[in-house]
Amino acid sequence: MTQRITVRVNGIPETAEVAPDRTLLTFLREDLDLTGAKEGCNEGECGACVVLVDRKPINACLMLAVEADGREVVTIEGLAKDGVLHPLQRKFLEHQALQCGFCTPGMILTTLGLLAENPSPSEGEVRRALSGNLCRCTGYRQILDAVQDAAAELRGTGKGAAR
Ligand code: FES
Ligand code: FES
Repeated sequence: MTQRITVRVNGIPETAEVAPDRTLLTFLREDLDLTGAKEGCNEGECGACVVLVDRKPINACLMLAVEADGREVVTIEGLAKDGVLHPLQRKFLEHQALQCGFCTPGMILTTLGLLAENPSPSEGEVRRALSGNLCRCTGYRQILDAVQDAAAELRGTGKGAAR
């Protein structure tokens, strides 16, 4: 038995029939072909699958697609506008805050959620917010620097994290 859902994904209403046990992550990756959210541990431990649901960072592997019915989801594919990277994406590149890139979409979306609530986080607050996002490559220093630099730029533009 399936259930009909409509989820607004990156501003576009998506309607689908989904099985009750289909996760939001599988729905995004397999039904919508949005593969930016990564499948790492699939049990809420690594943060590779983080997307924003109603502006809050959520592990998409732990949420059912049916629970996203009627809600607003933002994935990494929704950040660049007209081919221009979001400042957070640009700062990750400038600071070389990624190597393999597997953790990067989750890192960026978790950070966006943080900056929406707290535009001037201390390093400790950034570390706490990103504590559920694992990176096996960078050693985290460059990520912390990229986040602080992007936060400063976003404060300067007055546009906030959502641009
Ligand atoms: S894949 Fe969801 S937290 Fe690891
Ligand atoms: S850049 Fe490879 S896991 Fe973070």
